[in-house]
Parts: sequence; structure tokens; C-alpha cells
Amino acid sequence: MKLKIKLLIIVLTVGVIAAFAIRLPSATAQTQTVTAGQKFKNIKVLNDMPADQMGQVMNIMSASLGVDCKMCHVSNDKDFEKDGIDHKDIARKMIKMTWELNKTYFEGKPEVSCNTCHNGHERPVALPSLLPPPPPVERPKQPAVKPTVDEILAKYETALGGKDSLAKVKSRHIKANRVEPDGKTVEPEEIWLKGGKYRSETKYADYVVTELYDGKDALKLGNTEAIELKAFEAEQMKRDAQIFANPDLKSVYAKLDFRFLNRIDGREVYMVTATTADNRREQLVFDVLTGQLVRRVASAMTVIGQFQYQVDYSDYKDLGGVKLPASTRFAMPGITWTRKITEVKINTVDDAKFTAPK
Ligand code: HEC
Ligand code: HEC
Repeated sequence: MKLKIKLLIIVLTVGVIAAFAIRLPSATAQTQTVTAGQKFKNIKVLNDMPADQMGQVMNIMSASLGVDCKMCHVSNDKDFEKDGIDHKDIARKMIKMTWELNKTYFEGKPEVSCNTCHNGHERPVALPSLLPPPPPVERPKQPAVKPTVDEILAKYETALGGKDSLAKVKSRHIKANRVEPDGKTVEPEEIWLKGGKYRSETKYADYVVTELYDGKDALKLGNTEAIELKAFEAEQMKRDAQIFANPDLKSVYAKLDFRFLNRIDGREVYMVTATTADNRREQLVFDVLTGQLVRRVASAMTVIGQFQYQVDYSDYKDLGGVKLPASTRFAMPGITWTRKITEVKINTVDDAKFTAPK
């Protein structure tokens, strides 16, 4: 198992609660906030941060510096409360400095983050490069008449195979492989989808991670034990389930706005802002030529800036009578993996698959 993934599971397992489910969306906004100071053992700076954000903040710091947990901790997978590595104390100072900069110079807005200076390096590069700068990436010429969201969604529906083909699919049982960033480590996955409900099982040898969203509650299990699920993770699990091969995105989001024409990897794309009912913004990106949804970006605010979550859909092909992205890459700070679909069976899924275990 690749290191980073093991770490995520360990971080998430900190503080397991017997039956941990997250109700969406109302309860996530109301749950009483446990702070990092209350929950963790040796906190000197992040005391008032919601404890929920610990994993995200640690992953943002690691990704911004391009390092493993071990740069600041005595080990990559345990004893995170221990001090003794100088970098941990430097990081404490850096967190305070970042807050000060934003407070003093940016009206408290989270403009400066670890990555602003570090940009993936342990030590920021102080001197400007003497090489010629790379050519700027220019936006394509904007259309005289803006495309409407309805037009973009209609094109997407056609790209998936059309209304009639989509209507024939009531459920999907998907077999896939989870490919880790090294390109070699592969874990088999099964996914069940029906009416916006979702279940996935990923097999790390004899350790099975189950993710379940039954339409109301989201939960995560490691074998039969509950793994703590963050509100943000639950939200993204729900969204992935809702939007998979679903051109009716107006039923998922409260508001959709076409913003501008952009270019990604040489292809022209429509940039669409999608606003959820609780006023969170996501970005949807559609290929102009094929009409396919190629990217979704969401983010959650933490005490040291945005934690981004990006899903890239590619390699659309006929799977179960509808064109589906055979390859989906999931990425967030410090964590990436790709889901490669190998087989899709339609209309075989029983509702019991989505019942949470007692
Ligand atoms: C750049 C340094 C740095 C990196 C990299 C880093 N951490 Fe931390 N970590 C800290 C600091 C600093 C604290 C203490 C924060 C405070 O005192 O408010 C901390 C605290 C923690 C705690 C709370 C421990 C306790 O009970 O007090 C956990 C858990 C943790 N880190 C996990 C991780 C994991 C997992 C990774 C790798 C994904 C990681 N950290 C990477 C600097 C770092
Ligand atoms: C305003 C710019 C800036 C910001 C923002 C910033 N840093 Fe730094 N950081 C630096 C500079 C410059 C150094 C190098 C100092 C040196 O060379 O001794 C550094 C050094 C470090 C080091 C020590 C690296 C080493 O190998 O000695 C750590 C750890 C670190 N920063 C963590 C962080 C974390 C975590 C954040 C976000 C909470 C952060 N920094 C935000 C500028 C910044």
C-alpha cells in the first residue's frame, strides 16, 4: 500500500466513534464544533481550529512544502503529538506568521498561504529566475453570444448517449481498479449506484474500505469499524454520487452560471460555476468539442486556506449503454488516485446495498 494512502486512513481513524454517520446537509452546519485544542494532545497554535480540519491542514502543509509528515513529526504514521523535530516548531511559527500577514495586510482575508511562498518547495525560492519566462497561457477568443447553461447541459446529455439511453439505466454495478500515483499499485474496487445513492468498496489486501451514502447519511468503514468521516468528505461523496453520468445538474445545484471559455490541455472548455443550496461554489468544466464533463473542482475553507478537491473525467466510452468516463482522477493536497472502470452492469442493484450496517 502506498504511504500517503496509509496515512490518510490513519489520520481519519484518530478518534473513532462507534457509529459515525454524517447527515447531509443540515446537521453538518449545526454539529457542535470540537476544537483541535480539545481533541488533540499537544496543540499550541491551532487550538481554536475545528478538530475536523486537522487532516486537511496537515495535508495542505505537506503538499505546499512537497514533503511527508516525517519532515515535522517523529514518524510518518504515529506519535504525532510528540515534539522534538525542529521543523515542527518552525511550522508553528510559520502558521502564526501566515495568519499575521493576512490579518495585517489583507484585511483578514486568506490571501497568503504556505503555498504562496513555498510553492511545493521545502524552502521558498528567493531569487527570480534568469531564464526567459514561459509563454503566458491565453484564453481562447470569447464567443460573441454566450452559450446558455441549458445548451451546455443538452450537449452533455447527448455526449452521454442521449435521454433515451440514460432513461434505461436505473442502477449501475461498476467494477474498477483504484490506481495509485506510482501507476503500479492497484486496488480492486466495486461501486454501486442507484438514484443518487452510492456504495463503494476498495480492497487493500484484506482491509476493505467501504463508503456509503444512502441519500441522507454518509459513512465510511474500515472492515466493519466506522472510520471518522469529515463533513467535507461526506459532502464530496454525496456530490460524486449525485452527478455521476447525470446531465440533470439543475436538480443537483441551486444555480449554474456559464463564466467564460478557457483552454485545458489544448482543448477549449466551458467554465461553469455551480452553486449549492447552502451557497458553496464549485466549478464544472465541459469540453466544447465533445460536450463531455471533464472536471469538477470543489473546496473547503480551513484555518490556513482552501483545501481543494478536483475530479477529472476522461476516456469516455460505451459502458452499459451509456458513454461513461472510464478514467476518473481524484486529487486533493497530498492525495491522488485514479479510478479505472473495467465493467458496468446495469439494473442489477438491490436497495439493500445502501442500508447502513447496525
Ligand atoms: C510542516 C510541518 C508539518 C507537516 C509536514 C505535518 N505536520 Fe502535523 N503538525 C505540525 C504542527 C506544527 C503540529 C502542532 C500544531 C499546534 O501546535 O497547534 C502538528 C500536529 C499534528 C497532529 C496533532 C497531534 C496531537 O495530538 O497533538 C496530527 C494528528 C498531525 N499533525 C498529523 C500529521 C500528518 C498525518 C501529516 C502528514 C500528512 C502531518 N501532520 C504533516 C506540523 C506538521
Ligand atoms: C511569506 C512567505 C512564507 C509563508 C507564507 C510561509 N513560509 Fe515557511 N518559510 C519561508 C521562508 C523564506 C523559509 C526559509 C527560511 C530559511 O531559509 O531559513 C521558510 C521555511 C519554512 C520551514 C523550514 C524549512 C527548512 O528546511 O528549514 C518550514 C517547516 C516552513 N517554512 C513551513 C511553513 C508552513 C507550514 C507554512 C504555512 C502555514 C509556511 N511555511 C508559510 C517563507 C514562508
